[in-house]
Amino acid sequence: MTLYLSRRLRFDDLFFKEYKDLFDIDPKKSLKILEIGCGPGALAEALHRWYPNAEITGIDRDTKFIEFARKNVEGVTFMEGDATKLPFEDESFDITISNTVQEHIEPSAFWGEQKRVLKSGGKCICLSARKGIRCLAECLEKTEIENSFWEAQPGFEEELERFQVCQYPMTEAEIPASMEQFGFVDVSTGYAVINLTPDDPHHSKELGEAMIEADRQCALEAVFTTHSDSYEKVIEAINQKYDKRLKLYRDGIAQWDTSVSLTMVISGFRA
Ligand SMILES: C[S@@+](CC[C@H](N)C(=O)[O-])C[C@H]1O[C@@H](n2cnc3c(N)ncnc32)[C@H](O)[C@@H]1O
Repeated sequence: MTLYLSRRLRFDDLFFKEYKDLFDIDPKKSLKILEIGCGPGALAEALHRWYPNAEITGIDRDTKFIEFARKNVEGVTFMEGDATKLPFEDESFDITISNTVQEHIEPSAFWGEQKRVLKSGGKCICLSARKGIRCLAECLEKTEIENSFWEAQPGFEEELERFQVCQYPMTEAEIPASMEQFGFVDVSTGYAVINLTPDDPHHSKELGEAMIEADRQCALEAVFTTHSDSYEKVIEAINQKYDKRLKLYRDGIAQWDTSVSLTMVISGFRA
């Protein structure tokens, strides 16, 4: 749910202008699009809204994500499966797309399988989250309760190791080079900038509140994933902070806190 909420914000229609030219997908065509590692389905859901004539399939190896996506996202076919052994015939899709998945999958399998299922001239689009900007409201600064909770937890590196994620990180130069190395042609790059600033008057009240709530869910989820059995106090502290932030927002007392994400979009074609 946390991933879905935060991704749904980043793929809100308000931000379509950021992706439109980079995706360069003709909305009139009835294309077959495959999303690799679709997670809870927020990008697939946006693709269905933006390209209603396309037939969209999302695949992920995580059973719970696929169950969630099937329950919450309409108009998309979701399947459980492995991106390194895609259960599709050769040359069956016009476009393959993924968001923050490349770093988790061995490159020859990640690119090779997409190349295999793409039709000749088909396009592979890879979205990769890069470092963004984060500036917290004063009322959201970490409390002492949170600091001591986190000090008692195992390090982030150990967690990555434990879950075997992010084994193949690449720089902004390495991703397009890797795509070329595995045979894609006419590779190009671009960046989508998503500005999540609740107090920005361009955003509706509903969207502003959704930004604060998605942030709250992320903070809570981070605590739940620690397997600690004494998190009641820290949960209470987090909720108090976000209740305060929400009240300031509703009272029109601007904090101008912001979270700007930078997504690299790399495209290449199957010859
Ligand atoms: C960081 S999450 C991104 C999820 C989704 N794309 C999003 O942006 O919300 C990475 C996803 O890749 C999936 N994944 C990792 N390795 C995979 C593999 N070999 N086959 C299929 N899915 C995989 C994970 O299950 C997870 O859902």
